[in-house]
Amino acid sequence: MVDIEQINPRNQAALRAWWEVGAAATAERPGKPWPLWDQSRVALPADNPERAVTLIGAIDGREMVGAGLLTRPLRENLHTAMAFAYVRPDRTREGIGRRLVEELEVVAAGDGRSTIQSEAYLPPGGTGASEAFARAMGYDVASREAIKELTLTDYLARRDALAVEASAADAYRVITFDTVCPEEHLDSFGRLLGMLMSEVPLGELDLAASEWTPERIRDAEQRQVDVGRHVQTAMAIAPDGSVAGVSDVRVDDSDPAYGQVGITIVDPAHRGHRLGLALKLATHDLAVATYPDLVSLDTSNAEVNTWMNAVNEALGYRTIETLLELQKKR
Ligand SMILES: CC(C)(COP(=O)(O)OP(=O)(O)OC[C@H]1O[C@@H](n2cnc3c(N)ncnc32)[C@H](O)[C@@H]1OP(=O)(O)O)[C@@H](O)C(=O)NCCC(=O)NCCS
Repeated sequence: MVDIEQINPRNQAALRAWWEVGAAATAERPGKPWPLWDQSRVALPADNPERAVTLIGAIDGREMVGAGLLTRPLRENLHTAMAFAYVRPDRTREGIGRRLVEELEVVAAGDGRSTIQSEAYLPPGGTGASEAFARAMGYDVASREAIKELTLTDYLARRDALAVEASAADAYRVITFDTVCPEEHLDSFGRLLGMLMSEVPLGELDLAASEWTPERIRDAEQRQVDVGRHVQTAMAIAPDGSVAGVSDVRVDDSDPAYGQVGITIVDPAHRGHRLGLALKLATHDLAVATYPDLVSLDTSNAEVNTWMNAVNEALGYRTIETLLELQKKR
């Protein structure tokens, strides 16, 4: 008899059992599909001003055999939530995944969330359990993305030639910082962040634009500092002093061998000057200089995002998985 129970992330033994299920369920995937224990141990119990997190476990006797995660954005898109289910590989096809997702949907509905989003991961060009499972649970594919990985060796072999190309962006000043945006650029940075939802290809995903006040940016930065995450950021400043583009690479103190690209956006008014390339070179160089043990970075982009894909390909990123963005509306 399997019971579904809420897990308190501040109960470290329970959180560890929950984390073990996710690690086992993702062990066969390429790249870095699951955080290290030290990352989850710190990040999951920490307060997060951007989203509420609910963890559930499927418990059989004294063992956890399934793990579920629901995140609910708190600042905008209050009609949405994201649901994830993980089942220990020796206990799949018993209906545990279904019970986890059903429970997460109940929690989401209880908080007025009518659009549930999720993700499925497949070998490039292939298929897999998570896609079949998503369809069985009534989720539609809203967008197709590629998860890409860059090894530092590949990057270093290419960077000098790319730097020549990026000199087309020389009219802009590129500044870098760790997590905390300089006060003088905060308002302009917020304006650019507000464009994200309308500028990033979202496919059919039902997401609305967000507003980034200076207070909101500062709260989000503080959260990253609190969990030991360094958002190594490059920002392009136009001749008139406004923020024309931004890109970042995130590295956790607990896992300095691995980095993840966060956001990248260039203001439409400043496109066509190789700023995307210049910003990514700046963040990647900064990450290499700051973390001598860095081995790889990853990123994900919509397959239709031609411009970003071209930049990533030039940097040496290779597709390792297909990511399906899923959505179910009540
Ligand atoms: C995807 C996953 C959660 C499914 O868990 P599960 O407990 O095996 O799922 P269920 O037994 O509840 O399956 C429900 C239905 O999904 C479909 N399904 C699940 N796995 C399937 C598979 N490997 N092949 C075909 N259909 C599958 C079936 O229709 C199944 O119903 P049925 O068994 O009556 O035919 C599990 O394989 C897993 O943990 N995978 C790794 C993590 C992951 O990718 N999670 C999804 C992203 S959130």
